[in-house]
Amino acid sequence: MEKDPSPENPKNEIEFKDGVPVSLLFDDVYFSKQGGYEESNYVFLEGNQIPSKLIQSPQSVFCIGELGFGSGLNVFVTLNTWMSLTNPASLAFYSLEGYPLQREILLTLNASYPGKRLWFEDLIFSYESAIKLWHQNPDKNSWKYTWTHPTNGNSFTLQVFFGDVGLCLPQFPKIHSWYLDGFSPGKNPDMWSSNTLKEIQKKSEPGTSFATFSSAGFLRRNLKELGFVVEKKKGFGRKREMITGYLESNAKTK
Ligand SMILES: C[S@@+](CC[C@H](N)C(=O)[O-])C[C@H]1O[C@@H](n2cnc3c(N)ncnc32)[C@H](O)[C@@H]1O
Repeated sequence: MEKDPSPENPKNEIEFKDGVPVSLLFDDVYFSKQGGYEESNYVFLEGNQIPSKLIQSPQSVFCIGELGFGSGLNVFVTLNTWMSLTNPASLAFYSLEGYPLQREILLTLNASYPGKRLWFEDLIFSYESAIKLWHQNPDKNSWKYTWTHPTNGNSFTLQVFFGDVGLCLPQFPKIHSWYLDGFSPGKNPDMWSSNTLKEIQKKSEPGTSFATFSSAGFLRRNLKELGFVVEKKKGFGRKREMITGYLESNAKTK
């Protein structure tokens, strides 16, 4: 199957394995059924220390950048954490997606994690409308949705850009924490390429953190070369390692 993250590409075929969507294009799963919600929390939120950053944030709006929106699981885990904090900063969550999933597939997330606040009708409808617009006009390549915090009235704004990572990442603003969540590097090289990592560095500030499930040697080396401090951590569950880190204060960003 040809990889072509454009509005004309209908070929993101999905198969199910134990109720979890698997991309036939990339031969990889979107999330793991056993502990996927906890894994997202461990790797991305704890890996970036998101809860404490949201409480102590010196920024009026804390910005998270994600590579790979997929089923939206990481967004929902972040949103539910943000909702549970007493007085969090406003949050802007930027993500990108070249191969948006269909409603029936998105809804399997709700079936996998009953009792969690995930996709609801208005949200899916709004996502589908934005994708339709992108199909009609490739320049209209983003979807935005906002939630309000129940106690302090701050906002959580999600913006997903549609298209290839090379096209979408330059549209991100400066980011304070990254969730690097492409499919595994061997199967999805574009999401981990040196161009992608350079763009991530450009969109970072000194102190900007990142976390990812992968601990591939080339990734650690390339991030270090770009001025990131890279730390190995114990991976989730039976996974041996993952990495986290931050951009050093003397790293040159544009
Ligand atoms: C592991 S999945 C992301 C899982 C997601 N974070 C979640 O919570 O469900 C990786 C995602 O990256 C997207 N992707 C892969 N290559 C891409 C590319 N070159 N440009 C844009 N998106 C891409 C895939 O379509 C897929 O949705």
